Amino acid sequence: MKTRVLTGITTTGIPHLGNYAGAIRPAVAASRRDDVDAFYFMADYHALIKCDEPARIERSRLEIAATWLAAGLDPARVTFYRQSDIPEIPELTWLLTCVTAKGLLNRAHAYKAAVDKNVEAGEDPDAGVTAGLYMYPVLMAADILAFNAHKVPVGRDQIQHLEMARDIAQRFNHIYGREFFVLPEVVIEEQVATLPGLDGRKMSKSYDNTIPLFAGGARALREAVMRIVTDSRLPGEPKDPDSSSLYTIFRAFAGEAESAAFRRALEEGLGWGEAKQVLFERLEAELAPMRARYDELVARPAEIEAILQEGARKARATATPLLAELREAVGLRPMG
Ligand code: TYM
Repeated sequence: MKTRVLTGITTTGIPHLGNYAGAIRPAVAASRRDDVDAFYFMADYHALIKCDEPARIERSRLEIAATWLAAGLDPARVTFYRQSDIPEIPELTWLLTCVTAKGLLNRAHAYKAAVDKNVEAGEDPDAGVTAGLYMYPVLMAADILAFNAHKVPVGRDQIQHLEMARDIAQRFNHIYGREFFVLPEVVIEEQVATLPGLDGRKMSKSYDNTIPLFAGGARALREAVMRIVTDSRLPGEPKDPDSSSLYTIFRAFAGEAESAAFRRALEEGLGWGEAKQVLFERLEAELAPMRARYDELVARPAEIEAILQEGARKARATATPLLAELREAVGLRPMG
C-alpha cells in the first residue's frame, strides 16, 4: 500500500521562505516517490479565519498554487486541490466537532495566544475571538482525516494541530467502535523545523518578518536578506553561527559541506555584509529558475484553474465514499 502524504497552506499572503523550506520543498520531494500518494491543497477555508478581504484570498490562492507548481509539483502525480472545492471537508468538520472535547480546543496555541493578549490588555478574554479561530484545529483535523493521510509534512508550528487531529480521530474511532481513521503522523524536516524570519523570531505572516519566495524578484529577495537582524560584531571579529538566523537560513538551503564552510567563515570573522551576500547568492541559485516558471504560471490563471478543478474531482473520489461510510456509522442517511 502507498503512503498517503497530505499538507496544506493557508491562502492569506504571499508564500515565504518558511513555507517553502518547511512544507513545499519536502512535500514536492515526497511526491516524486513511487510509494507515495500525495494530497496537497490550498487551505482557503482556513484563510477566512484571519482574513475578510475576498480579493486578497483569491490572489493568495493563485500565488500559492503557482508556487507549488513552480517548485516542481506534478499535478498528474499529485492530487492538488482547493480545500473549498471539497464539501466533504466542512461536513466532516461537523461530525468531528461533535466528538471533540471543548477542553482540547481551549488548549490550542493560537486561541490561547489571542486570549492571553486580551487578558494582558485588560480586556474581555474572548474579545474579538471568533468561533472560527476556536474551531481551527477541528477543520484541520477534517482536512487530514477526510483522506486518511498517514503522513503530514509541516513546520514545527503545526505539531500541536497534528496531535489534536490524532486525538480527535482516536475519539471518533473509539465512540463509533471501528478504525475509521488512521492516526496521522507529523513529518518535520529537522534541518528546517522553524525557519527564523528577519528579526530572528519564527518567520511568519503574523510577525511581518518574512522573506518573500518569489514576489518582487531577485531585488526584493536581496533587500530582505540585507535586512536580517545581526549582532554588532564587526568584520574580523568571530561570529557565533548557532545564534545567527543568517546561518540557520543558509543551512536550510545548502548541503553539509557548504554549510560547514560557511560556519567556518563566520567563526573566522566574515563580515555580516559579505555573509548576507553569500546567503543571497545561495538562495538565488535555488530560487531563480523556479521564479521564472512562477512568473509564467501566475500570468495563466485559467490553466491553474483547470488543474485545480481536476484535483478537486480526484480528491472527492476519495473523500465521498469515506463520508458516506461515516454518515451511516453515526446514524445519518448515507449520501454520495
Ligand atoms: P501556514 O499556511 O501557516 O504554513 C504553511 C506551511 O509552512 C510551514 N511554515 C514554516 N515552516 C518552517 N519555518 C517557518 N518559519 C514556517 N512558517 C510556516 C507551516 O508549518 C506549514 O507546514 N494550518 C496550516 C495549513 C493547513 C494544514 C492543514 C497543514 C490547513 N490544513 C492540514 C497540514 C495539514 C497553516 O496555517 O499553515
